[in-house]
Amino acid sequence: MSDRPIGVFDSGLGGLTVLKEITKILPNENIIYFGDTARVPYGPRSKETVMKYTFQAINFLMSKNVKAIVIACNTATARSLKEANEKYNIPIIGVIEAGARTAAYSTRNKIVGVIGTEGTVRSKAYNLEIGKLDKDIKIIDKACSLFVPIVEEGWSNTEIASLTAKKYLEELIEEGIDSLVLGCTHYPLLKRTIGEVVGENIKLVNPAKETAKDLKDILEKSNLVKITRNDKSSYEYYVSDIPERFASIAEEFLKKEIQDVKSVEIQKY
Ligand code: DGL
Repeated sequence: MSDRPIGVFDSGLGGLTVLKEITKILPNENIIYFGDTARVPYGPRSKETVMKYTFQAINFLMSKNVKAIVIACNTATARSLKEANEKYNIPIIGVIEAGARTAAYSTRNKIVGVIGTEGTVRSKAYNLEIGKLDKDIKIIDKACSLFVPIVEEGWSNTEIASLTAKKYLEELIEEGIDSLVLGCTHYPLLKRTIGEVVGENIKLVNPAKETAKDLKDILEKSNLVKITRNDKSSYEYYVSDIPERFASIAEEFLKKEIQDVKSVEIQKY
């Protein structure tokens, strides 16, 4: 049992979609969130760079004495989860295994679409994980590089988002996918727009829910669940650039007041 916080990390604000699910399933836990807003996006960067950034984020969170870490970023998970687990001795989970599992359960016709950043799609991490669960599932993947800037710009529910989604997803719809993995933590913020474009017969898979369940399981198995049940849980937010911008987008998304987002010089870690 442990009252130490859980660390959640993303390249920017996309990880908030995972944080939201964690707070639903583990409402008593204290959480420290770090968004690497100075260096977002990770998607187009090399494996080496993403790994370096991920390790710095982990070092920072470990300096806050976290008991477990969720890499709430598909790109960072795809590029560095394995290495992170070899390097550090606290539980560290990502989002891809959970997303792959949800997709494998969700598909009926065994044709699954996976969308994500260039880095995630190029890594083939989803193909690998889904293939482990069911090798008969056909995967049609596509990098949707413009989705992250659209979300970061606050344009998720605009015509621009809708036209971009149509252009990217046309091909996947024609291929007959019945499930579509939102393989980037920013994409659940585009869920409405993507849902309207693909129609109700294609199930949208958000790995965040299953990731939160994985976290709960791992805390229980490692005997790390928070001991004190009746005190208020605390959430601390850190970013590597422009805290005010993060605070206003986070408030809108989490529908609650976010006070005091702190700045961190992540290169030091
Ligand atoms: N949050 C990242 C992910 O899930 C996308 C943003 C980025 O490219 O850094 O892949």
